[in-house]
Amino acid sequence: MKHPKISIKNLYKIFGARDRALVAKVKEGLGKQELLEQYGHVLGLQNINVDMQSGEITVIMGLSGSGKSTLIRHLNRLIEPSAGEVLVDGQDVLGLGPADLRTMRQKTMSMVFQKFALLPHRTVSQNAAMPLSVLGEAEDIQAREAAKWLERVGLGGFGERYPAQLSGGMQQRVGIARALTADTDIMLMDEAFSALDPLIRTDMQDLLLELQRELRKTIVFITHDLDEALKLADHLVILKDGAVVQQGDPQHILLNPADPYIEDFVSDINRARVLRVRSITKPLTTESFDGDVTAESNLESLIAKSGGDTNHVYRVVDADDVIGQLDMKDLVRALVPTIRPDM
Ligand SMILES: Nc1ncnc2c1ncn2[C@@H]1O[C@H](COP(=O)(O)OP(=O)(O)OP(=O)(O)O)[C@@H](O)[C@H]1O
Ligand SMILES: [Mg+2]
Repeated sequence: MKHPKISIKNLYKIFGARDRALVAKVKEGLGKQELLEQYGHVLGLQNINVDMQSGEITVIMGLSGSGKSTLIRHLNRLIEPSAGEVLVDGQDVLGLGPADLRTMRQKTMSMVFQKFALLPHRTVSQNAAMPLSVLGEAEDIQAREAAKWLERVGLGGFGERYPAQLSGGMQQRVGIARALTADTDIMLMDEAFSALDPLIRTDMQDLLLELQRELRKTIVFITHDLDEALKLADHLVILKDGAVVQQGDPQHILLNPADPYIEDFVSDINRARVLRVRSITKPLTTESFDGDVTAESNLESLIAKSGGDTNHVYRVVDADDVIGQLDMKDLVRALVPTIRPDM
């Protein structure tokens, strides 16, 4: 079995002085509202169990206050849990002493922040080199690595500028370059693109996916934007009131929402654009096809290809393998969100 890079087990976080004692009450079913009214404590997270695989992008999404930032801050122990475990490479980070914790924060995880968090009086190059300067690396190595990663995020030639001379999108590119300079396996991104204009934001998502194809980092990406989540996620975790309501392959969640909260969440999505052929592919039952389609293409492209003919059946190929067939009638059904019995 594949060993997860990060594993969160039975994690609870209650904000307040008696947090550990109150975990039992929450386990017995005391809700966020009651906990606040009866005990004056805030329920941050409850019974979180999430595995994050190496080389994948795990997206945590949920409305404001659902616990996303609280969750990501447990990974590098900026927050101590009230109960539960956080394993990184199989090791419980809660057992780390101060020195090991510092090493982990510097060598295993890097962060990209929503507000970029660049140092205004240092050049772009110096900002990008920060993780190495903290480690006391030689200046020439710092400069070389900074230049390499600035180039890679599309900022070649900007090294001698200052952050205030760059647009928001460019500043966040520096933020990403800085995280990459740290050369960590894990990248934590809390609403990293949320402060950017829509078009710039799309560019940044594309940049991240392009880098990821090559670098295969373990990325934990927080957003409250479902389109962004669906675009980036290999594994999607949806939080509500500090609990996981559903997690899994985003395509699967879109096709099989676990409860009305998720149904509402996904109801406005452009399904034709987001859903992939592979998600509605079925085993081969026929031998005559109207053509081949690739598993990763989206339904929109297939609608165009079929000219809207719902009698068509296509053979689905993934690289050189035939993985099944796609019936246009199934495609049409997949375009309609799950209909609730009470509607
Ligand atoms: N230090 C704290 N003390 C008390 N309550 C807190 C603290 N930090 C967070 N909370 C509460 O925990 C809950 C989860 O907050 P969190 O910041 O993790 O949400 P979020 O999903 O990141 O929201 P946003 O989208 O607004 O960033 C909220 O009810 C919040 O008020
Ligand atoms: Mg937050």
